[in-house]
Amino acid sequence: MKPKPSPSPLGKTLLPAAAIQKRVGELARAITAHYRGKPLVVVALLNGSLFFLVDLLRRMPPETGVECWRVSSYEGTASQGILRGLDQCRGDFKGRHVLLLDDILDTGLTLHAVAAHLRKLGAEKVEICVLLNKRRKRTVNVKPKWTGFGIGDEFVVGYGLDYNGHYRGLKSIRLFKASGASAPATA
Ligand code: IMP
Ligand code: MG
Repeated sequence: MKPKPSPSPLGKTLLPAAAIQKRVGELARAITAHYRGKPLVVVALLNGSLFFLVDLLRRMPPETGVECWRVSSYEGTASQGILRGLDQCRGDFKGRHVLLLDDILDTGLTLHAVAAHLRKLGAEKVEICVLLNKRRKRTVNVKPKWTGFGIGDEFVVGYGLDYNGHYRGLKSIRLFKASGASAPATA
């Protein structure tokens, strides 16, 4: 007897590609209007905000500055509660307006720690923009100024969001069930 194929861990599409693109356009317009006349640097957290950053930045004024920082707190579908990589994140932010960009706000630990780090580096004002905001109890309080979509407390992949490094390239955002997952874990 042939072994049964394992069920796909990919669930229903929560946000189709067209809806994401439309919302990113709206965010770019709102952010551009807010920072008119103020030089802005976007600090994007990789790898999750990769596609969000590119799509947003292409719709913003060409002089907008950009820095990419690599930090991580997740393994599998759960936050490990420890933020790795922040000690490598440096730059001259003295007196600068910073827009901190991430794919998703979950426990709040990542954005809380990175925003505090930017203030320590001298940033004049730090605002936060996330594509997704999970409705759940936060570990720490973080208030993004701009949010793409509010979602339920479910694990999602696509448009930059991953499961152990996989599925980032999906154009839409889909629900994900780790029990059926066949993707190998990555470090
Ligand atoms: P926080 O520090 O708990 O707010 O987590 C933020 C980070 O956790 C994000 O940058 C993502 O990398 C990751 N994360 C949280 N929820 C999800 C999810 O549903 N799918 C994929 N990654 C997630
Ligand atoms: Mg991430």
